Amino acid sequence: MSNVTVIGAGYVGLTTATCLAHLGHTVTCVDIDEAKVGQLNNGQVPIHEARLPELLQDGLSKQVLKFVVGASQAVTASEFVFLCLPTPQGDDGRVDISAISTVIEEIREVIPPGSTIVNKSTTPVGTNASIQSSLQRDDVAVVSNPEFLREGVAVTDFLQPDRIVIGATDPEAAQRVISLYDSIDAPIVNVDPPSAETIKYATNSFLATKVSFVNALAAVCEAVGADIESVTRGLGADQRIGSRFLQPGPGWGGSCFPKDMQALVRMATDAGYQFDLLRAVIEANEQQFERIVAKAEQLIDGSLEGVNVTLLGLTFKAHTDDLRNSPAIEIANLLIAKGAKLTAYDPMVESPAGLPEEINLVRTTEQAVARSDLTLILTEWPEFTRANWGALRDSMTVPRVLDARNALDRSAMVELGFQYDDLGRT
Ligand code: UDX
Repeated sequence: MSNVTVIGAGYVGLTTATCLAHLGHTVTCVDIDEAKVGQLNNGQVPIHEARLPELLQDGLSKQVLKFVVGASQAVTASEFVFLCLPTPQGDDGRVDISAISTVIEEIREVIPPGSTIVNKSTTPVGTNASIQSSLQRDDVAVVSNPEFLREGVAVTDFLQPDRIVIGATDPEAAQRVISLYDSIDAPIVNVDPPSAETIKYATNSFLATKVSFVNALAAVCEAVGADIESVTRGLGADQRIGSRFLQPGPGWGGSCFPKDMQALVRMATDAGYQFDLLRAVIEANEQQFERIVAKAEQLIDGSLEGVNVTLLGLTFKAHTDDLRNSPAIEIANLLIAKGAKLTAYDPMVESPAGLPEEINLVRTTEQAVARSDLTLILTEWPEFTRANWGALRDSMTVPRVLDARNALDRSAMVELGFQYDDLGRT
């Protein structure tokens, strides 16, 4: 087994460090946040990820996993140094890789000869080469190893991936990184670095395109009188299409899709190709937010001015606490602009910090729907699908639900006397 340093203890770094320790390696995970390092060494997980608390506890108790501040001393005994650093979107849509440049500057003289830098951060095509040149160490290889971790199920996605992507110019370095994953049963896609970097952006962009396509298809179904669930059943049965990521919703969001889509459009433009298809997908996603608001106005059959609107769900999807680029927040801002009075509840959002100040945040579904004129379901939390809607109905001013996740049973809701609308279901 190997000695690994993981730099960055965020969503990707923490999952990577904990899972590599679980696979039998000895891992030191580095972060600049001293408080977070202390919490992690005490077994406290600062993010909402299934299975992560148990794996963290296991790694700590077996003493194969520890957390420290400061990269330079951590890397001196490492055979592998994973870069799991934030690469946020800059103002111009380009990716900001300054965190990576800073770390490379910090470790380039102390990283041992023969060790391998493994870049798991999502970085523009060509970053592998620029890391190699700024390193100025021809005795240290740089290998791209992009991640495909969905928030909320990152541990499962790490340990049971559809494939492991490796991008290297040095075949031996590629084999060294591949060997880290020996106990994982998954196809290896071993390619050149630019192709590995492109696979990451292509994957997220294609998934976002698939979601925008099904959202548009739901609108078509409404127009032609088809049922989106029947259509996607037939569509998804085609092995060339597949049934996953065909669930209509309020639009895609999160910390990755929006950033990666903008980055790929920008990269292509800078390289001389106008990626108009992807621009159209980004535009279609913006329009989906507006479409949800238009459907709310149809349901109210008039203006939203002064209307008590309840939002059930604020996170960008269920089983996470992440509000970053959440469609629910985009839609909330559009509703506020139209004069709606918003009350919201999300099982994983306890503080109003980061929310539009006009939102009255409450702590239960019951509180949220009391006296509402219209209730929107924006995140598919099980708490909402399992709720006793008959009981909830009686506390509403008007029993009206716009289900932007097709999370509820349409006929059951109509039976209960709700004015009900959703996305593309007959
Ligand atoms: C995504 C990629 O899936 C992951 O591989 C990558 O490493 C990081 O970005 P994540 O951001 O956690 O993961 O979200 P994901 O589960 O992919 O969902 C993205 C968005 O699409 C969410 O807003 C979600 O609600 C939406 N979505 C997804 C749909 O609306 N319908 C679907 O069928 C699937």
